[in-house]
Amino acid sequence: MNKKYNAIITGVGMYVPPKVLDNKYFEQYLDTNDEWIVTRTGIKERRILENGATSDLAAGAVKDLLASKNMDPMEIDAIIVATVTPDMFFPATACIVQDKVGAKNAWGFDLSAACSGFLFALRTGASLIESGQYRKVIVVGADKMSAIVDYTDRNTCILFGDAASAVLLEPTEEANTGIIDSILRVDGTGQEALYMKGGGSLNPPSHQTVDNKMHFIYQDGKAVFKVAVVGMADVSAEIMEKNGLTGEDVAFLVPHQANLRIIDATAQRMGVTREKVMINIDKYGNTTAATIPLCLTEYYRAGKVKKGDNLILAAFGAGFTWGSIYLKWAID
Ligand code: UT7
Repeated sequence: MNKKYNAIITGVGMYVPPKVLDNKYFEQYLDTNDEWIVTRTGIKERRILENGATSDLAAGAVKDLLASKNMDPMEIDAIIVATVTPDMFFPATACIVQDKVGAKNAWGFDLSAACSGFLFALRTGASLIESGQYRKVIVVGADKMSAIVDYTDRNTCILFGDAASAVLLEPTEEANTGIIDSILRVDGTGQEALYMKGGGSLNPPSHQTVDNKMHFIYQDGKAVFKVAVVGMADVSAEIMEKNGLTGEDVAFLVPHQANLRIIDATAQRMGVTREKVMINIDKYGNTTAATIPLCLTEYYRAGKVKKGDNLILAAFGAGFTWGSIYLKWAID
């Protein structure tokens, strides 16, 4: 497709709450241990937001981004918040974030695609830029997973954490840079492998839904594991082939951080070595929509990502949703 404008990432920001839960914490009251968690998932600790909501995480990330660019919030045209833990059903968390950061000229909306949320939102945000109608679009991945995790369920509680991270998209007329290509998919036949069954229009809140723990995450870990490996590896390999890239051409694979074993399998399939994989699951666990921008922010700030680097972003999550985005990093 010939576009006049390409969307490039021109800024990043993040917020993780200060409270750390390490694996030892769970050993105190659950039949689990640090060794199992580290070898089966790669997670050593995760962050928990003690007071506040997803909008506080998201606003923290946006404020960090704005401060790092010395940018006035009035310049923001739109805010897209990818989340499965909105503050409320409505209004959209994007509205609350808009208010908290003082982005008085912005519109915005929430996008629900679970662990693939950031990729879906990034593609959507890029389209707003490519249309030529908007010049500064903020895409946030934010989740307070601790709000929907059952801390008595060892299958899920050790996996998740709270965080938010944001990127700023702006247009360039330069070709072959920024968000170059994407392959995004959904398959609703997988809906019951990973979901929160209660609280929505299907099962409105009642004493019974609460008694049956329907307001917590349910995951069939083994089933999700298998499709996640295949799904992430397939789309990543496909996007590389489509764009004539080999493992050598890729500076970094930026995978959703759900399980280190899934990340390793994806990298192997792409012919990408471990040093070229962004990993911070050990520090934050699975923060759902926040994992990918959190990796981008940390690696960029550590000086590891350079202008012109080819990055392959890949995610898999509830829905099922999954996908891959090929982007060329555009700033120094
Ligand atoms: O981000 C969205 C997408 N989500 C994912 O990609 C997650 C995909 N799934 C996974 O990452 C993995 O399936 C898990 C980490 C959730 C589980 O790892 P697993 O290697 O698939 O373990 P499993 O579920 O097959 O369980 C193996 C054993 C079971 O015991 P038995 O039945 O063999 O006696 C579990 O009960 O490990 C047990 N187990 C635990 N043991 C200690 C499950 N959770 C724990 C735990 N500590 N926390």
